[in-house]
Amino acid sequence: MLIFAHRGASGVEPENTLRAIRAALEANVDGIEVDVHQVGDRLMVIHDRWLHKTTSGLGQLQEYSFEELRLLDAGKGETIPSLDEVLALTTGKCIINLELKAIHSVDVLYHYLDNAKRDFTLDLSQVLISSFNHRLLNLIHQERPEIAIGALTACYPLEYAQFAQQLDAYSVHIDIEFINQDFVDDAHKRGLKVYVYTVDELEDINVMRRLGVDGIFSNQPTKVKSHLAHLDSTEL
Ligand code: G3P
Ligand code: MG
Repeated sequence: MLIFAHRGASGVEPENTLRAIRAALEANVDGIEVDVHQVGDRLMVIHDRWLHKTTSGLGQLQEYSFEELRLLDAGKGETIPSLDEVLALTTGKCIINLELKAIHSVDVLYHYLDNAKRDFTLDLSQVLISSFNHRLLNLIHQERPEIAIGALTACYPLEYAQFAQQLDAYSVHIDIEFINQDFVDDAHKRGLKVYVYTVDELEDINVMRRLGVDGIFSNQPTKVKSHLAHLDSTEL
């Protein structure tokens, strides 16, 4: 079961900051999930468009320029990272899962990925693009089929994981509130990986293992990894 740090190691450091990403790398995670918004022709790593939720700013992301946003405190003196900073920090170290929030131009995303490939040999096999916006995922898959996509859902669909198979996704990412054995079995039959968010409680980790999910997103990757190591050692 892969462990993804959710918004970086956001349980111990300010979410979606380089600090949270460094903490996740120190925890030796398999992957890191971050949220991505477009601001002008730049991509920034932040979850909420309302700035007061995670920064010293007020109002909405789109009301400010990239330069103005960079002056805000995203927690412990951190700036809101740009996507290139995140790719530079994580490339070659773990999977990077970019969850696309408000993105107006996929060309901007390609630009960042192409630059990272050129500048620090980003390997696309370590990139997973996910979104609740399935039309956006579909467009990316049509234009750049070499980029793996993960279809997010916060509901329990009528036809289980069919929507993700229809997108030809690599993985389906489902809210822990709705996961069950039927969904996992259906997704696996369709050739999809099943990743579940957000899993922080030890009892939930045990259940995810029993269900046979392929990965979990956690705000507490260190805690999760030590619990899994304990389970593995007691099963020997
Ligand atoms: O990508 C998994 C999870 O992060 C989706 O929900 O709102 O935390 O971005 P949210
Ligand atoms: Mg997210």
